[in-house]
Amino acid sequence: LGKAVISGAGAYVPSTIMTNQDLEKLMDTSHEWIATRTGIHERRVIDETENTSDLAYKASLLALEDARLEPKDIDFIIVATETPDHMFPPVATKLQTLLGCRTIGAYDVHSTCVGFISALQIAEQFTKIGKAKHVLIVGADALSKIVDYTDRSTAILFADGAGAFVISQGNDTDGEGIIDSAIHSDGQFYEDLYVSGGSSRARDNSDYNVPKIKMNGNKIFKLAVNAMSGSVKDLIKKNNLEYNDIDWLIPHQANQRIIDAVARNVEFPTEKVINNIKYYGNNSAATIPLAFTKARAEGKIQRGDRIVLTAFGGGLIWGSLLFQY
Ligand code: ACO
Repeated sequence: LGKAVISGAGAYVPSTIMTNQDLEKLMDTSHEWIATRTGIHERRVIDETENTSDLAYKASLLALEDARLEPKDIDFIIVATETPDHMFPPVATKLQTLLGCRTIGAYDVHSTCVGFISALQIAEQFTKIGKAKHVLIVGADALSKIVDYTDRSTAILFADGAGAFVISQGNDTDGEGIIDSAIHSDGQFYEDLYVSGGSSRARDNSDYNVPKIKMNGNKIFKLAVNAMSGSVKDLIKKNNLEYNDIDWLIPHQANQRIIDAVARNVEFPTEKVINNIKYYGNNSAATIPLAFTKARAEGKIQRGDRIVLTAFGGGLIWGSLLFQY
């Protein structure tokens, strides 16, 4: 069988915009601090009527339309999320019914901001071994629901949104499709970025009763830069490519300074780095498909382009994926 190809893509963000000026009213911070330290000017947040599954559903409809496929054509659904509607069941099963798909397999993957790359890896394997012809993968998160709005070092970063790809069985072993990927983890940094509460560690201890993001920001910053830079370098080298052979780098949108430092480390020209953190902040598993879809709409990404995705997140987990669109 041929390589797994990206046959459709779509993204959806909630309409409510939370600006840095809005955050100034909630905490001791300033637009200037947030913009210079993170590159973020505004972010989207869901309202009381929306759940992660609604974001996933809207992005999926656009990806299916783009692939010119019907829900009945989909053979498997994978949703990458850290903020499911409920701790269980998976968002993917709700999506199966919202879309009106057959009673196909559907589950969530839980690998923080690397979730979309994890879903891509699984979908690639399913299509390559012939288990599925078309897999719908979605990165959807509503981090505003687990942000502590009294913690100014995390509340400014996180946001909500969704992006989806349809991954299909390709005809060729050369040309378009997923070329290679690698994901790594190092649990020694487990407690440098985590969500307290709403979990098996819930105790008679207030810190573990309410789900809130806890982060050692400075440490994560350095780990993120090293992990993503190393992962991109390894993937390019392993595939005997030069940086000139790559058209676009799409990094997880966590902090503009992290993105710039990775681009500098791998000596990748900034004009070839896809970037929209200014308007959307960090919506975890959604940042990569959202950045891809927006860059394609702007006419930057074209069919035939070679693209590297790279991400890191709590765990610590990090990885990269190389494909030709
Ligand atoms: N407004 C004003 N001042 C602030 C704010 C704020 N929002 N946040 C922190 N500060 C202050 C601090 O209190 C500190 O003050 P002090 O010097 O008086 O103690 C000062 O600013 C500097 O703080 P640092 O933490 O050193 O600032 P830094 O430049 O590292 O920026 C940030 C902090 C933005 C959190 C940065 O470390 C970062 O982006 N880290 C990476 C985090 C990340 O990307 N996490 C997502 C991972 S993906 C996932 O799994 C969900």
